[in-house]
Amino acid sequence: MRHLLDTTDFTTKEIDEMISLALDIIEHGDKYAHICEGKKLATLFFEPSTRTRLSFEAAMYELGGHVLGFSEASSSSTSKGESVADTIRIVSNYADIIAMRHPLEGAPRVALTKTLVPLINAGDGGHTHPTQTLTDLLTIYREKGTFDNFTVGLCGDLKYGRTVHSLIKAMCRYNGVRFVLISPEELKVPDYIIKEVLEPCGADYKEVETMEEVMEELDILYMTRVQRERFPSEEEYLKHKDAFILDCEKLKSAKESLTIMHPLPRVNEIAVEVDGDKRAKYFEQALNGKYIRMALILTLLNMKDSEERKENDEYITDTYKCANPRCICNNEPLSHIFRKTDDGSFRCVYCEEKNN
Ligand code: CP
Repeated sequence: MRHLLDTTDFTTKEIDEMISLALDIIEHGDKYAHICEGKKLATLFFEPSTRTRLSFEAAMYELGGHVLGFSEASSSSTSKGESVADTIRIVSNYADIIAMRHPLEGAPRVALTKTLVPLINAGDGGHTHPTQTLTDLLTIYREKGTFDNFTVGLCGDLKYGRTVHSLIKAMCRYNGVRFVLISPEELKVPDYIIKEVLEPCGADYKEVETMEEVMEELDILYMTRVQRERFPSEEEYLKHKDAFILDCEKLKSAKESLTIMHPLPRVNEIAVEVDGDKRAKYFEQALNGKYIRMALILTLLNMKDSEERKENDEYITDTYKCANPRCICNNEPLSHIFRKTDDGSFRCVYCEEKNN
């Protein structure tokens, strides 16, 4: 049985196959209309969502299947103190596949230890959001026809922006992708993304503080929201909330072939006037989310264990304490487990925070 917790759970070949499947679904939807008859998808959303939950549900309905679940933690037994592990153990008796979103980083990693059915991470705190990445890849492929040889500008809250973390992990596996990381100093990408993702794969990247200075270089501009819900204080959020606002004036120096993306929801980081620009593709991106999630459901329901995946990692338990207050292991009664990295340091298996 296979799961999707992080983008790297799939090889690039497997992702390419899923993109091809999504393209076939777009062309020949009727062929897939009954393929999941009798199957049930559980959508367990412990955190708010519009696109991810509803596109998963629409995806399962369009495949002929059924959906059950909840859209907020307060309507589940989490409100009575039930753990993630127990919730998943129960729900995996009721459904054939589970999509789960949780505000705590690493929560899907805990769910994985208990699930009896394929599990999909639909976003865990500020950590990762792999199905958004699949959505983004399908959008890029439909716009550019390739994943190779372009410059991607990632702009906004790159510290807590889980969609950015997952997208970098996926895109650095393709050839000739250059990353321009646009954020204020305080919202730069986490250290592990630089040290364990970009540098090991030899990716060409640079960090800048304004979009204006790099606009003309970009083939893709991926805007993100400054996420109020992730900041430790309202004061910190207010300091950064208007750090970047894309408008038509700023786009004057951009390429005609630029693709403007955003995982949405937006607040005010893209002015509404930009919606009319032919380069704005964020609404198409949200629609692509439904098609790629149809492909993902089909893939996971049919997928056997991969023989090639071998676990060689070294782990250490209850020696270090995870310093991330948003990590699941600091919020539920769990051991603090760390994985040894290539540079000899240790990182929390749930949220990837370094030991200290
Ligand atoms: N892009 C995204 O995850 O949107 P929702 O929070 O609405 O699901």
